[in-house]
Amino acid sequence: MAADINQTIEVIKNLRERYNAVILAHLYQQAEVQDIADFVGDSLGLSQEAAKTDADVIVFCGVHFMAETAAILSPEKTVLLPEINAGCPMADMVTAEALREKKREYPDAVVVCYVNSSAEVKAESDICCTSANAVKIVRSVPADKRVLFVPDRNLGHYVGIQSGREIIYWDGYCNTHDKLTAEDVKKAMAAHPDATVMVHPECRPEVIELADQVFSTSGMIRFARESDNREFIIGTEMGILHQLYKTAPEKIFHLASDKLVCPNMKATSLEKVKWALEEMQPRIMVPDEIREKALGAVERMIAVK
Ligand code: 13P
Ligand code: SF4
Repeated sequence: MAADINQTIEVIKNLRERYNAVILAHLYQQAEVQDIADFVGDSLGLSQEAAKTDADVIVFCGVHFMAETAAILSPEKTVLLPEINAGCPMADMVTAEALREKKREYPDAVVVCYVNSSAEVKAESDICCTSANAVKIVRSVPADKRVLFVPDRNLGHYVGIQSGREIIYWDGYCNTHDKLTAEDVKKAMAAHPDATVMVHPECRPEVIELADQVFSTSGMIRFARESDNREFIIGTEMGILHQLYKTAPEKIFHLASDKLVCPNMKATSLEKVKWALEEMQPRIMVPDEIREKALGAVERMIAVK
């Protein structure tokens, strides 16, 4: 079994070199997929990496919207999503048509779209954000404008509180993070009273209220490394535990609930990465007229300092 994995890893490394490919992996990916990647990070870090790489091929180990964002930023590159069915249920909760309708209701609002959205939805938006920069992006909107925030109601709520801005929410949510309840967190806190509670802003407002820290996935990694605390309760998808233990092996991390699993993020395997590089598919492409408009929203996000 181990020999098989080592053989697969060897083949992937050879193909990566032969095709001048770069492998990007989100922090929720399976441990062995993270370990083969050239870069492991959160949505913001991955999109920045996709924008600056000089590789010819990007193998995106994540979900569909992430690979699409890479294709928006680098149309000349071949962008592969090893598991074509790895979608994001939250991203599917808003369509371009539904958003156009909402914009007619609020014609003066500035549309901020979470990067967890399709290229068509990005194309209908004024500016993108990720969980790492959402508060900064909303603060960059002119003060006399209301913000229409799509599709995550939990992130929208958090950003509204942090920025003090009036937000019109969309009723979308992540069905992994939204499963985490305040009861789950209280139970974990009772079991580990010395632990620092870190949660992702895709969690429900009552969960966020209980937390000591609210971070994107890479924010959690940074904080765990730099903090003097030794013990943490983690309110995000379980795949992050792999990098947390790699980064701070002397510390202890408790997942706030064993419900915190995103099946879409777990759908990519080493075998699929190998197959994608052998076959140069499944390839993610965005039609030009959508891509150009979506690029504006992504570039405006990257430009906010
Ligand atoms: P970040 O990695 O940007 O924190 O996002 C989490 C997520 O749910 C991505 O799908
Ligand atoms: Fe989408 Fe949630 Fe999975 Fe992230 S964790 S990909 S937001 S369903």
